[in-house]
Amino acid sequence: MDPSPPVLLAPSILSADFARLGEEVAAIDAAGADWIHVDVMDNHFVPNLTIGPMVVKALRPWSAKPFDVHLMVAPADALVEAFAEAGADILSVHPEAGPHLHRTLARIRALGKKAGVVLNPATPLAAVEPVLDMVDLVLVMSVNPGFGGQAFIPSALDRIAALRRMIDRSGRAIALEVDGGIGPDTAADVIAAGATVLVAGTAAFRGGRDCYAANLAALRG
Ligand code: DX5
Ligand code: ZN
Repeated sequence: MDPSPPVLLAPSILSADFARLGEEVAAIDAAGADWIHVDVMDNHFVPNLTIGPMVVKALRPWSAKPFDVHLMVAPADALVEAFAEAGADILSVHPEAGPHLHRTLARIRALGKKAGVVLNPATPLAAVEPVLDMVDLVLVMSVNPGFGGQAFIPSALDRIAALRRMIDRSGRAIALEVDGGIGPDTAADVIAAGATVLVAGTAAFRGGRDCYAANLAALRG
């Protein structure tokens, strides 16, 4: 009997070559990516500025894999519909990004998309508990959001384990994703703690296209 399903990999295109983003998405898809992680930053909720719905729409034909859109924007509500129309499959929001998390999640689900809640390193896990019945994914930040290439924060491991228990108690099929500082050195620990989806930017895209398949294989352990 297979004890647990294999972990899914969601490479973050934040670390891809932005001058060739379509080809990069196709290359990381071909290398074995399960989802394509898109980091959306607004220079307000986080101190960086990245990708809008127009770019997601332009990238959509380059991969049939789910687009996992991580919204680091405040407010998020006004952009949810635009990203859904652009081709996002999963839309995740931070509880701090708006006053009405329940409403935001309901809006995402009403658009027929999967909804996620993202927990920063200092955000209490209890922030997701009241809405657990309406999320498809919980994303644990293992760095402070805003930039790729940061060091993994070890306290994320206990948080992943606690969320694993919370999700198991719920009886619902909720993905448990981890984002930040994931590499071959940290992947095994987060999987052991109960993560089911790993985001990786630096570790997925390092070395150029010839390395992508080996990079992803190294994360699967
Ligand atoms: C950080 C982003 C991450 C980031 C991960 O705000 O949410 O997705 O790109 O990058 P690495 O894997 O380099 O830590
Ligand atoms: Zn992210």
